[in-house]
Amino acid sequence: MTEATITNTELLELAVDVAREAAALVRERRREHVDVAATKTSATDVVTLVDRESEALIRGRIHDARPDDGFLGEEGSDDAGTSTVRWIVDPIDGTVNFLYGLAPYAVSIAAEREGVVVAGVVLDVPTDTEYTAVRGSGDGVTSRRDGEPISVREDTPLAEWLVGTGFNYVPEVRALQAQAIARLLPTIRDIRRMGSAALDLCRVAEGTYDGYVEEGLHPWDHSAGALVAQGAGATVELTRGVGGRVAVICAPEHGFRTFRDAVDGAGFLAAPGE
Ligand code: IPD
Repeated sequence: MTEATITNTELLELAVDVAREAAALVRERRREHVDVAATKTSATDVVTLVDRESEALIRGRIHDARPDDGFLGEEGSDDAGTSTVRWIVDPIDGTVNFLYGLAPYAVSIAAEREGVVVAGVVLDVPTDTEYTAVRGSGDGVTSRRDGEPISVREDTPLAEWLVGTGFNYVPEVRALQAQAIARLLPTIRDIRRMGSAALDLCRVAEGTYDGYVEEGLHPWDHSAGALVAQGAGATVELTRGVGGRVAVICAPEHGFRTFRDAVDGAGFLAAPGE
């Protein structure tokens, strides 16, 4: 199918087919021995052979179906392509959980058209839960979990919010994040650090988190999950974090301003002009 005729829904269908195949591979490999293959930004930032195998499978399948598209993957693929479509892929989001045999971890695939994310799937491998989102005509986005519509949590005071977060792999950034969490914690119900940013965004979408904030994410961590969150009634902002990296803030539209102010007040974000 040419890029002019393929619809966003058809891009999503391809993403879902490929994510299911990759998730089956990851699930199968988890039954065998899993070891660290290499480290990246720090000694704690690990990659396994299965991350690489999953990315190779996803890349191969997408290339077979759409050879002209661009492809950006966490494990090193970066091809601009010649069409207006680019795929943004995390072959295992939550690699540390995968390594230890802890849930959750996910396969995350997003498709963007001229730089705008138009379709995404996040597949939670241990539970086989599938979150999808597709941009319709205009700006409308439809999000589903296992085919059923999902929606963010209702409006509650910040003091009752359960907030997801995560930590960057660079120790200096982690130290700043820990200080900000310590300031935020007394003002909310509690925090959770589940280990998969893509699924953290889906939790805001389905209402099992009230909000989510994390600095240091890459496009493969947040592209698909952010679209799922937006389609379920959340606002997602990418801004600059206190450690100088991209910070992602996600909360239901109705509570976004309050949450953003709390996150800023706690010191998660860079000062204006910094
Ligand atoms: C990581 C996870 C984790 C988040 C890290 C990410 P990876 O992705 O999403 O929850 O805290 O910032 O790098 O390395 O497992 O694909």
